[in-house]
Amino acid sequence: MESQIYFPPSIQRFEPKRVVFSTWIDHICFAYDLVAAIRPKLIAELGVYNGLSFFTFCQSMVENDIDGVAYGIDCWEGDEHTDAYDDSIYEDCAEHARDHYRGMTYLLRMFFQEALQHFNDDSIDLLHIDGLHTYEAIQEDFTTWYPKVKPGGIVLFHDVMAKIKDFGAWKYFEELEQEHEETFKFNHGFGLGVLRKPGGERKPDPLLDMLFSGDEETEKRLRQFYVHAGLYLESRRQAAEIRKRRKGMKLGGDGKKKQQPAAQGEG
Ligand SMILES: C[S@@+](CC[C@H](N)C(=O)[O-])C[C@H]1O[C@@H](n2cnc3c(N)ncnc32)[C@H](O)[C@@H]1O
Repeated sequence: MESQIYFPPSIQRFEPKRVVFSTWIDHICFAYDLVAAIRPKLIAELGVYNGLSFFTFCQSMVENDIDGVAYGIDCWEGDEHTDAYDDSIYEDCAEHARDHYRGMTYLLRMFFQEALQHFNDDSIDLLHIDGLHTYEAIQEDFTTWYPKVKPGGIVLFHDVMAKIKDFGAWKYFEELEQEHEETFKFNHGFGLGVLRKPGGERKPDPLLDMLFSGDEETEKRLRQFYVHAGLYLESRRQAAEIRKRRKGMKLGGDGKKKQQPAAQGEG
């Protein structure tokens, strides 16, 4: 990382189209860059909820000209950690998918176990595990879905730093780190674990090289980079908000400035 300037697409041009409340917010720049780096043909996400992570993957596919498909799997009923929620969450995701990612995005409203049959072994390039976060649930999701991941494919685990309630992703991921050669952990926010399934060909790419360098200093810098990328994205969002509000200040007929309501619903 010392000898090269890392200037990934999230810094160059990422303006999130899907902005909803989620603790996934801390990792969207990385998610955008990871998709650009691995150029997946097939993405599967277990646990979509309101779609922050899922639609970030999709946006990166479109904006980086990646010819692939993304499946979002969720019962859209909620679980013990999200609590139950109503149909509006699914309907909103379905509308966003239709409006922005028609033909490349499929929402499978079912339980993870039921969805397994729709995927071939060794087929998934990027699997994101973000369902229920107990140790047992993560273990089951990983062990049942791992065979579906391509050799060289990437598995992401959200909440690997969340040591609250009965969350157990942190513990399960610590065990995986012992057993697997190529892993990486982002510690900020609620944490994100990255694991590369052995095999396949890893094309030279600055992000992948840093993720799996095994060099402590490089890992530290990469973690810092994505903390700052998140802050930079948030500052840009706030600046855009301010500009929008200023635009809303128009001159009225009496020559005095008139406050107009800012546009609603924009990310
Ligand atoms: C933490 S949320 C996902 C968050 C999302 N990735 C984001 O970006 O904010 C977990 C979701 O997983 C779903 N879920 C949990 N266990 C499931 C299962 N076994 N089958 C289907 N959906 C499940 C819940 O309905 C919930 O919407």
